[in-house]
Amino acid sequence: MSYRNTWCGLVSDQQVGQTIKVAGWVHRRRDHGNLVFVDLRDRTGLVQLVFDPARGAQAHAASHSVRSEFVLSARGKVLNRDPERINPNLPTGRVEILVEELNILAEAKTPPFLPDERVDVDDNLRLRYRYIDLRRAQMQRNLRLRDKVCRSARRHFEENAFIEVETPILTKSTPEGARDFLVPSRTQAGAFYALPQSPQLFKQLLMIAGYERYYQIARAFRDEDLRADRQPEHTQIDLEMSFVEEEDIYALVEGMVQRVFSDALGVELDIPFPRLDYREAMRRFGSDKPDLRFAMEIADISDLVADCGFKVFTEVLDSGGAVRGLCAAGAGGFSRKDVDDVAGVAAVHGAKGLIPIWVEESGVRSPIAKFVSPETMEGIVQRMGAVAGDLLLFAADRLPVLEPSLGTLRVHLAERLGVPKEGWRFTWVLNFPMFEYDEREKRWKAQHHPFTRPRIQDAADLGRHPAELGTHAYDLVLNGVELGSGSLRVSDPAMQEAIFATLGMGSEEIAAKFGFLVEAMDYGIPPHGGMALGLDRLVMLMAGEDSIRDVIAFPKTQSGSCPLTGAPSSVSNGQMKELRLKTI
Ligand code: AMO
Ligand code: AMP
Repeated sequence: MSYRNTWCGLVSDQQVGQTIKVAGWVHRRRDHGNLVFVDLRDRTGLVQLVFDPARGAQAHAASHSVRSEFVLSARGKVLNRDPERINPNLPTGRVEILVEELNILAEAKTPPFLPDERVDVDDNLRLRYRYIDLRRAQMQRNLRLRDKVCRSARRHFEENAFIEVETPILTKSTPEGARDFLVPSRTQAGAFYALPQSPQLFKQLLMIAGYERYYQIARAFRDEDLRADRQPEHTQIDLEMSFVEEEDIYALVEGMVQRVFSDALGVELDIPFPRLDYREAMRRFGSDKPDLRFAMEIADISDLVADCGFKVFTEVLDSGGAVRGLCAAGAGGFSRKDVDDVAGVAAVHGAKGLIPIWVEESGVRSPIAKFVSPETMEGIVQRMGAVAGDLLLFAADRLPVLEPSLGTLRVHLAERLGVPKEGWRFTWVLNFPMFEYDEREKRWKAQHHPFTRPRIQDAADLGRHPAELGTHAYDLVLNGVELGSGSLRVSDPAMQEAIFATLGMGSEEIAAKFGFLVEAMDYGIPPHGGMALGLDRLVMLMAGEDSIRDVIAFPKTQSGSCPLTGAPSSVSNGQMKELRLKTI
């Protein structure tokens, strides 16, 4: 006899009068002495079992020993519930199963917490007993959604003639710019594999190898400081295509995302997605991942205050910076201290302060009022689109400080003021700069990675204005989250060499790091490009979660550990010896 012939969550009034078998975990048990009720849970949901001594004496007797999270199989008749016992909140709430035969398949210790939505559990405990946490309906929903997203993406790739190819996990350092995880080699003492930060180099080799359309739902490993949307290992929907331009890649990815939302959420997205130039995104939103669910754009008042005589402004303007600000609509009630608070948020990116202007029925109020003529003040208020009751906040600085400071402030103010954020606002951000200057290391770094195609034809032009050089690199952004990035790649060996030279990499370093790819470029390289979408972030947003941990079955904590398995953990002396390693 099988354990079940029906899913708990699917029992309905269609089955009233039938005898069925269900199996699952005890979600809740209520002993009314005479009658015992058990909510039985499987992956589809809950159904109520009833044990009545008059109609199944043995089962009723057995039900007394049942506790939360015991595993049961029960056979019984489906009945309509008495009207007063109907539970409108439960899909199976109109029926119950009068149990005739009960099998206790496994007992369970009292769990450290119940897998119930209403129980608020410490994150560490959730991860320590993840198998119980994963029983919760929310986690079941999230992992199913993740599965749906993957299936749907795979179908899209299949229909567009892609093939899935696996690339190595034990490999060499890759160029995404985070710290590598290393794995010592036993057979070659002192040598290490690196876990891939992405399949980047291998997917490019696959293009050289003639596969033309590659995809992989690939694991990527990066030893970075963790945040809510970062894990040491994450999953990418990774793709690469040959003989394509950017438009081909946008179309393919838009089609995939549209399909994924339709299949997994029933949401029909409009494509194509809007596009923003990187510079424009930074200027208007102070971010390369702007949240477009609300407006609140940054405005520049440099021209209006150039001659005002307020030293903070004029000094910055004289040294090539700008004065820009935001209109916090309805924030007129902010006190001086509130302004200092939000200035602290902007200070994270280096902003030295915020100059407030309160716009009131009776006029404006501001510490800079004495420097600015009433006409200029009127001009500022107009440019900012402010009305009485609004608060204007300005900062003056060099653009690399000013833009991200205001970008962070913008997001913070929207949150603090409760600005509504609805819907799915995708945007492409295009034309990222090729290089960014690392002030700490005093050298140029690749903004995306060194295989990104710059917007020039001639390698000789590369070194001239590294700061201004644009690229065929693009990000896909959703609701203020960087969902994916990609680029057209360099397919000209001379250009590739010039890029490495600008990055200050000598031929030895190039040979040691990416020699195999550079060598392969000499054997017939097609024009190609691709992209990777962060699967965890995509599913997080689709599921309405705040952390990617809630859409990963077995994630790591903030400190990179796994409370369930205890990883990372020390290893035996024997293992260390075999690897010829010593800890210092
Ligand atoms: P990139 O480094 O931008 O590009 O990574 C692609 C996407 O992966 C997600 N992501 C992460 N998700 C969770 N935790 C992390 N630590 C993490 N790091 C990145 C982001 C990101 O947009 N090889 C290139 C792609 C290409 O050029 O084709 C790459 O890896 O959503
Ligand atoms: P200070 O003259 O440095 O004491 O600054 C006077 C006021 O200007 C203070 O409220 C600071 O917060 C603010 N402030 C200083 N520097 C800047 C800046 N670069 N941009 C905007 N406000 C600033």
